[in-house]
Amino acid sequence: MRLIDAPNHLAFLACVHDLLAEPKVQSMRTFIHHPGVTCYEHSIFVAYVAFRLARRWRLNYMACARAGLLHDLYLYRWNDQSAHPGNQCLDHPEFALRNAQTITKLSPMERNIIQAHMWPLAIHMPHSREAWTVSLADKICATIETIQLWKRMKLRTVLAQ
Ligand SMILES: [Fe+2]
Ligand SMILES: [Fe+2]
Repeated sequence: MRLIDAPNHLAFLACVHDLLAEPKVQSMRTFIHHPGVTCYEHSIFVAYVAFRLARRWRLNYMACARAGLLHDLYLYRWNDQSAHPGNQCLDHPEFALRNAQTITKLSPMERNIIQAHMWPLAIHMPHSREAWTVSLADKICATIETIQLWKRMKLRTVLAQ
């Protein structure tokens, strides 16, 4: 079966299955990102939404899925002031990039996707349509999580088990 013909979630998992097996990625399950939502759940949700948008818009969906999954791989409690030097909005993309580079080789596009995902609250600006797509997906997913819709979505049980 060709990747593009697979059902969406299977095609998505084919892009990130190697990353999902990484202990650092799995450890995001232990960190809360939004109320009642782990960093792992948020990251896989963002990666999937970005992947779907990228396929629809004929962009590099592999880069969106991979960097989307790794965009918040900062691996500390977000409110732990001792874990990072300054503002969490500015700091965590840099920590995520550093951690991501220890588990996989990232393309320049994927690096920028991670660094710029908080735009406009970021040091780096998105340099590709893929980076804008992940940044958009991040904001959509954060909104859905904050209003507690994610917990009721079937997608949660399909993707984030
Ligand atoms: Fe983030
Ligand atoms: Fe995020």
